[in-house]
Amino acid sequence: MFNPNLYNTRYHDTDLKEYSFLITGGAGFIGSNIVEYLLKYGAGKVRVLDNLSNGYFENIKDFMGLPNFEFVLGDIRDYDTCVKALEGIDFLSHQAALGSVPRSIGDPITSNEVNVSGFLNVITAAKESKTLKRMVYAASSSTYGDSPALPKVEGNEGNPLSPYAVTKLVNELYADVYSRVYEFHTIGLRYFNVFGPKQNPNNPYAAVIPIFCKHFIEGTQPTINGDGLTSRDFTFVENAVQANIKAMLLPSIDTHEVMNMACGDQVTLNEMIEMLKAISCNDIHANYGPERKGDVRHSKASIDKISSLLNYEPKFRFQKGLEIVFDWYRNKMIL
Ligand SMILES: NC(=O)c1ccc[n+]([C@@H]2O[C@H](COP(=O)([O-])OP(=O)(O)OC[C@H]3O[C@@H](n4cnc5c(N)ncnc54)[C@H](O)[C@@H]3O)[C@@H](O)[C@H]2O)c1
Repeated sequence: MFNPNLYNTRYHDTDLKEYSFLITGGAGFIGSNIVEYLLKYGAGKVRVLDNLSNGYFENIKDFMGLPNFEFVLGDIRDYDTCVKALEGIDFLSHQAALGSVPRSIGDPITSNEVNVSGFLNVITAAKESKTLKRMVYAASSSTYGDSPALPKVEGNEGNPLSPYAVTKLVNELYADVYSRVYEFHTIGLRYFNVFGPKQNPNNPYAAVIPIFCKHFIEGTQPTINGDGLTSRDFTFVENAVQANIKAMLLPSIDTHEVMNMACGDQVTLNEMIEMLKAISCNDIHANYGPERKGDVRHSKASIDKISSLLNYEPKFRFQKGLEIVFDWYRNKMIL
């Protein structure tokens, strides 16, 4: 039920059995990893709200039947569903959204409905809740947009480069306004390219690491968009879980805070291919195709703010995370 390579470090001091948690998007990649951590450490209740539009029941199937686990099939675009899902909840991690820059370019209207209107439903229901102590939400490094500055530092954002980036920026604006107007203070975590177990390589909008792992396992050639010098601050999922746990349980805040969640490293796609060759013992060469619209060229985060506010420290650097996830894909099902 629990992956033996993950969550062997405890990121909380309090007894989780006293508390109930709602994870929206909890059947998705990052959400189901947060669920796994909470259940492994005996949380009192873990409720998932997900419409399975992009997540997989497979990600939470093992937890069904646990007395402290509850799955609600529902849509965040419905306000009453959000209110009901929050009943009796102490801590909320809001992960539900439609990710992927290309998807948002193809269908900006649905991305906006889920990511903006859905977010507004969730934060409004959370503000109205009588039991909730903290809401944490998934923000995105895409908010840095066309700013060329490296590392990316909170407060130094550029213009969004895709409809997806606009939706994530609007989340931050609403969270900020809810803090000022209603004194409802939340924490946004700007994820930088998260990867790890439970991220599906077969989804049409799959991210680069699952796709490349799949090619190396199947012995087929991956295609790199661009010259392979594009770089990212790839972040292993256990680091994202650590940040969510610490942000949810942070004792008190009196303002909205948004912060980078990353490793503070920079890896190019060509370097990743070389590492995968070594890990897989498979000497596969990549094809090179055209650059993708809406993508930023380089990304690397400053993690000073999250380190000082949440006492966050990335325990898994890129190479270690890549070894774990490659192993998981090799042994696992969905290929
Ligand atoms: N994975 C990354 O690298 C990354 C980077 C930046 C930000 N994010 C953000 O982190 C969050 C989680 O991302 P992920 O990679 O786990 O994506 P994911 O697609 O695996 O998970 C999102 C989940 O939300 C659910 N969902 C979508 N629309 C819904 C709706 N209308 N109602 C209820 N549930 C709905 C999906 O079914 C899915 O299970 C998202 O908000 C995403 O935008 C992810």
